[in-house]
Amino acid sequence: MKLLEVNNLKKIYSSRFGGNQVQALSNVTFSVEKGEYVAIMGESGSGKTTLLNILASLDKPTSGEVLLQGKNIVAIKESEITAFRRENLGFVFQDFNLLDTFSLKDNIFLPLVLSRKNYREMEKRLKPIAEKLGIEQILEKFPYEVSGGQKQRAAVARALITDPQLILADEPTGALDSKSTDHLLKLFSDINNEGQTIFMVTHSTKAASHAGRVLFIKDGEVFHQLYRGSMSKEEMFEKISNTLTVITTGGAANE
Ligand SMILES: Nc1ncnc2c1ncn2[C@@H]1O[C@H](COP(=O)(O)OP(=O)(O)OP(=O)(O)O)[C@@H](O)[C@H]1O
Ligand SMILES: [Mg+2]
Repeated sequence: MKLLEVNNLKKIYSSRFGGNQVQALSNVTFSVEKGEYVAIMGESGSGKTTLLNILASLDKPTSGEVLLQGKNIVAIKESEITAFRRENLGFVFQDFNLLDTFSLKDNIFLPLVLSRKNYREMEKRLKPIAEKLGIEQILEKFPYEVSGGQKQRAAVARALITDPQLILADEPTGALDSKSTDHLLKLFSDINNEGQTIFMVTHSTKAASHAGRVLFIKDGEVFHQLYRGSMSKEEMFEKISNTLTVITTGGAANE
């Protein structure tokens, strides 16, 4: 079943006085099946964040549509967007986006507080997630009292606690050391194996090699995609590296 369908997405940024125009996305079309783990890669300025912001309904495209379970999120009323985002999407960012004045637990509860869930329900949902992420012992701590890897795990818990249709991640390993990166990638693979759909922007070949499919974006279009199929992570890593070389040297991908 298609969870996400992106059709002919175009985004032109224009300056306030209509002078300079930047075409960030020229024609992006792809879809994501329920349960897939998709990574998106591309050079700096290729339009990855622009795409993610549109999928997150934080920004509107110039034209095109984005269907989440058949619903065109581009057409959702401004007054309904915040609730829609909270109910359907989970976010994991490079810089964690945790509130420093809240304990990890309160950070994780925040989306549920905003949707007025009661405390018992929140505790009930947190327990299995905290166990899975190995953060039960640090829930009362504040973000500045824990490591980057622990902060990111709390951020993943916050994304998972609403049981979202889709997790959107922007460089989730960008600020992590290699051990925490491995831990996070293992976690993403695990939650994907349990059925969670993930869409991740990354510069990291290693991170992308964990995904089931990698989309390459170039000049505002999907230029190429790689399916893992039966490839090992090592083989996938190799293929991704080769494709990135082709993209940056301007040749055509030979597959
Ligand atoms: N708010 C904006 N106003 C005008 N131009 C913008 C805006 N945001 C992005 N752009 C331009 O759109 C293009 C795509 O930018 P985007 O941030 O999506 O790239 P990216 O792939 O995320 O790059 P990076 O890997 O460096 O994060 C770039 O040319 C950028 O300068
Ligand atoms: Mg970006």
